[in-house]
Amino acid sequence: MLKTIVLIGMMGSGKTSVGKELAKNLNLNFIDSDQEIEKKCKISIPSIFEKKGEDYFRKIEEKICCKLIDGKPKILSLGGGAFINSKIRKEIKKNGVSFWISTNLENIYDRLLQSKNKRPMLDYNNLKKSIKDIYDSRKEIYKKADYTIRTKSDNKKNIVNKIIENL
Ligand code: S3P
Repeated sequence: MLKTIVLIGMMGSGKTSVGKELAKNLNLNFIDSDQEIEKKCKISIPSIFEKKGEDYFRKIEEKICCKLIDGKPKILSLGGGAFINSKIRKEIKKNGVSFWISTNLENIYDRLLQSKNKRPMLDYNNLKKSIKDIYDSRKEIYKKADYTIRTKSDNKKNIVNKIIENL
């Protein structure tokens, strides 16, 4: 039986656009954990961080992600910090299959610089260093994903094909 396919990786790595394309290809529903958190809290992610703090966000993230993984098979894109949570990782090992979308840091930088969705984890005055520091602190955990898809290009079709090859 097909399990939920979970896309993990850094902010700006393309998880959402790859996930939507993959869902179309496999005829499955696509869900983005951050969008579900925003729906539940009725405010944006930056407002959650600002008003309630990161710890509060991480608790809601844990609850929502575990619930989403333990459901009907789907394509699930997780916020960049979700896989760092061991409870979420355990739930994925049990009920999902994980793909680390490992995008080149230069591409991530370009995307995050242009993105209108400002991420509260980033220091935009020092964006390159901020991305690198977060990446360095997380990469050993991202490596625990079932599969790693390395990518330099923006060609989501290629990335989707690579994922499908591994299923
Ligand atoms: C975060 C990534 C964001 C969002 C929040 C925290 C992180 O999601 O969950 O701002 O800690 O890396 P994206 O990876 O979709 O940008």
